[in-house]
Amino acid sequence: MRNQRTLCAFIIFLVIFSLHWVNGEDPYIFHTWKVTYGDIYPLGVKQQGILINGQFPGPQIDCVTNNNLIISVYNYLNEPFLISWNGLQQRRNSWQDGVYGTNCPIPPRKNFTYVLQAKDQIGSYFYFPSLAFHKAAGAFGGIRIWSRPRIPVPFPPPAGDHTILAGDWFKRSHRELKLILDSGHNLPFPDGLLINGRGWNGYTFTVDQGKTYRFRISNVGLTTSINIRIQGHFMKLVEVEGSHTLQNAYSSLDIHLGQTFSFLVTANQPVKDYYIVVSSRFTSPVLTTTAILHYSNSATRVSGPVPGGPTTQIDWSLNQARSIRWNLTASGPRPNPQGSYHYGMVKASRTIMLANSAPYINGKQRYAVNSVSFVPADTPLKLADYFKIGGVFNLGSIPDKPTWGNAYLATSVMGADFRSFVEIVFQNWEDTVQSWHIGGYSFWVVGMDGGQWTPASRLRYNLRDTVARCTTQVYPKSWTAIYMALDNVGMWNIRSENWARQYLGQQFYLRVYSPANSWRDEYPIPKNALLCGRASGRYTRPL
Ligand SMILES: *[C@@H]1O[C@H](CO)[C@@H](O)[C@H](O)[C@H]1NC(C)=O
Ligand SMILES: *[C@@H]1O[C@H](CO)[C@@H](O)[C@H](O)[C@H]1NC(C)=O
Repeated sequence: MRNQRTLCAFIIFLVIFSLHWVNGEDPYIFHTWKVTYGDIYPLGVKQQGILINGQFPGPQIDCVTNNNLIISVYNYLNEPFLISWNGLQQRRNSWQDGVYGTNCPIPPRKNFTYVLQAKDQIGSYFYFPSLAFHKAAGAFGGIRIWSRPRIPVPFPPPAGDHTILAGDWFKRSHRELKLILDSGHNLPFPDGLLINGRGWNGYTFTVDQGKTYRFRISNVGLTTSINIRIQGHFMKLVEVEGSHTLQNAYSSLDIHLGQTFSFLVTANQPVKDYYIVVSSRFTSPVLTTTAILHYSNSATRVSGPVPGGPTTQIDWSLNQARSIRWNLTASGPRPNPQGSYHYGMVKASRTIMLANSAPYINGKQRYAVNSVSFVPADTPLKLADYFKIGGVFNLGSIPDKPTWGNAYLATSVMGADFRSFVEIVFQNWEDTVQSWHIGGYSFWVVGMDGGQWTPASRLRYNLRDTVARCTTQVYPKSWTAIYMALDNVGMWNIRSENWARQYLGQQFYLRVYSPANSWRDEYPIPKNALLCGRASGRYTRPL
């Protein structure tokens, strides 16, 4: 009997060990990043930037599906620092998400090694600094997850693959911007737009005539949606945050905060240079910047008017969003086609409705979700949960549906069951575009429309071929509905990608919980986990 039990324990150990080992067989990619301050001049005036290995924007991460990423971050700033990964799902591993709800900040002069895996993912994403208002100073960069060699990609290999990190920019430092927010005001209007850290005509992409290139654009800005277009060229959309799309050609594309698109451009025009234009959307005035598409051996500089963006507002953008669909027969990260998962046939067991608002609380501008404006706790929520430290947060501290009561401050955490399938409706009664991101997940954007969502809105859902992605927009006075399979245990940040709104409370955490408490569902706390707040000095594990 006793022997049997020992044998049984040994077998369980072997299973856990081998499960863990499967990971070990995937290649490892190592990065060592030194994070420093450094002078940058993106809009012609000197600013203090945050650089990674001396670079602004930071280095690109390239990996293949299932690769392990070992990223050692040395913080040479005089303030705490964290990097988060927009779109890397970190399956079973919210320990590495790099937001303050999951990780202790890396103190000045210290280092932390992230151990990530691009598990079952392909596509284009970016990383960014998540604390304070560091995102206004740089330290962001592109992430490309390439398909494994034998998995078909639904287009011929492009002649080149270019990353475009674009977004609004402020001449004020991240500290000044943070002070404005801390004192209870929203940010001023941005000073300009950047493409790969440069201003007007500051960046050149070189192409050979007749060849086709892939461009991956992320909106890494703080407050505004953008539109991109290329003089004289169409953009053939191929991928959105890990979903291969129907390959529609667009003359311009809207990219909301935190979103990433990839498209193909064929250099099929006469040899000369062309404008790549990025402008702000739904703003007045409209900000514009340009980069250059340079045909190799072109001696003709860019000329002619800079192509204008869409002039019609919401309807144009909404129709474009609806035209972005899954290619059901193309592979995603796995060999089987994307369409073999019939998300539209699954019945949601719960509907969560999230309404954003912009209340004043104690005389200060705040932003809220279902009347709760998030305030960080003194201890990362994930650690408080793991060490069972009471009084840091309460489950259920944010309601499932909008309330009409006064807004209030709280460290809001919503509970959810592992393996449940949920419908989330983002309802926006404000007159600005919202952009929502969910950590740890990719979700199906089943519908969006003007007005108030009602159960009858479900009749118009796309239950067949909408894309799965990690960031979705919600138009002014409109709703967006998503379906999400809660297959990733952890503490996950649901947030506005408008960085002022996020900073002032438009975010919360979703605690996806499995009572099994098994390594199959969630990895144990990393041995190198930084401990802080009320988790300081706790003992992690003997392994
Ligand atoms: C990195 O951090 C670890 C753990 O805190 C420490 O032991 C190590 O000395 C650090 N390395 C450097 C080069 O600072
Ligand atoms: C969808 O993907 C398939 C398979 O790779 C490809 O042959 C087809 O052209 C794609 N269809 C569209 C409309 O993009």
